[in-house]
Amino acid sequence: MSLRDGLARHLRSHFVDLDTDRLAHLGTHRRGKVRELFVGDDEIWMITTDRLSAFDVVLTSIPCKGAILNAIAVAAFEATADICPNHLLEVPHPNVMRVRRADPLPIEVVVRRYVTGSLWRDLEAGRAGVYEVPLPAGIRRDQRLDQPIITPSTKAEVGIHDEPISRRVILEQGMVEEAVLDRAFELALALFARGEALAAERGLILVDTKYEFGLVDGELIVIDEIHTADSSRYWEASEYEARFAAGESQKMLDKENIRQWLIGVGYQGEGTPPEIPDAVRLDLAETYARLHERLLGRPFVPPAEDVRESLYTVLGR
Ligand SMILES: Nc1ncnc2c1ncn2[C@@H]1O[C@H](COP(=O)(O)OP(=O)(O)OP(=O)(O)O)[C@@H](O)[C@H]1O
Ligand SMILES: [Mg+2]
Repeated sequence: MSLRDGLARHLRSHFVDLDTDRLAHLGTHRRGKVRELFVGDDEIWMITTDRLSAFDVVLTSIPCKGAILNAIAVAAFEATADICPNHLLEVPHPNVMRVRRADPLPIEVVVRRYVTGSLWRDLEAGRAGVYEVPLPAGIRRDQRLDQPIITPSTKAEVGIHDEPISRRVILEQGMVEEAVLDRAFELALALFARGEALAAERGLILVDTKYEFGLVDGELIVIDEIHTADSSRYWEASEYEARFAAGESQKMLDKENIRQWLIGVGYQGEGTPPEIPDAVRLDLAETYARLHERLLGRPFVPPAEDVRESLYTVLGR
């Protein structure tokens, strides 16, 4: 069966919801935009669903996205554990990570090597000053920066958009202690350098990415997901120069594809979200699966069984 056919089988049996009562023994249930969490005293069972959020709104589901993201995040945690401790403890199911429960910093640490996406949109709209990060003059869309920059954002409550913020304001508002923030930024840059190198080995560019950090017994660790297609942008390295020179969009292997589709139909996070056609959902599922194959060096194989049922089998009582 072709990859697309395998993914198409999950268009309707997409994994968007759980009967949380059946997993209540794992901990206190909390629903994120993409994940279902079961929170215990020291650990969390993080179940990644197929839900797709863009502009901070859950819009649809992408077949098999949960398992693909989980696999990419797990591989990235394993490939960076020597430079930064992370929360991963165990992978009991393709959609699940059992992790150490941390006290999350109230910010997201976004590292960027290229000026694109929301930073480019901010620059064009004259809003990029909020980060208080110097950018070279006369910059063009998708231009590479000599050094990666950090453009933090707040971590908003459900339903509120994450807001850009600067290091200075984070400290001024006492959101994070200075020593902790400096360490988080240092770790983020080290993780990013490793992510860039691993992507380059696969002919990809890690364009930008978002990290979340948390404290466990005073130790700063990286949490949530890293270097996935949801938290990062990836471009095709071999096509970058020509496309940039021609002023064309880059070949994207990430969620920006759907953001561009949404912007194309006039949606940017406000008002009623558009209906997303199955073909568009499948295209994105294929993009995610191809990224899995490129980064992990092995194809993603869509499961034969229903994801929910297998979750109850593995994690249920
Ligand atoms: N090790 C951890 N300890 C505590 N919290 C964590 C840990 N790892 C991830 N989280 C939190 O779990 C949630 C993951 O769920 P998900 O990705 O669905 O949420 P989100 O869409 O990013 O945000 P929200 O929770 O606001 O909907 C995030 O709020 C993240 O900060
Ligand atoms: Mg998240």
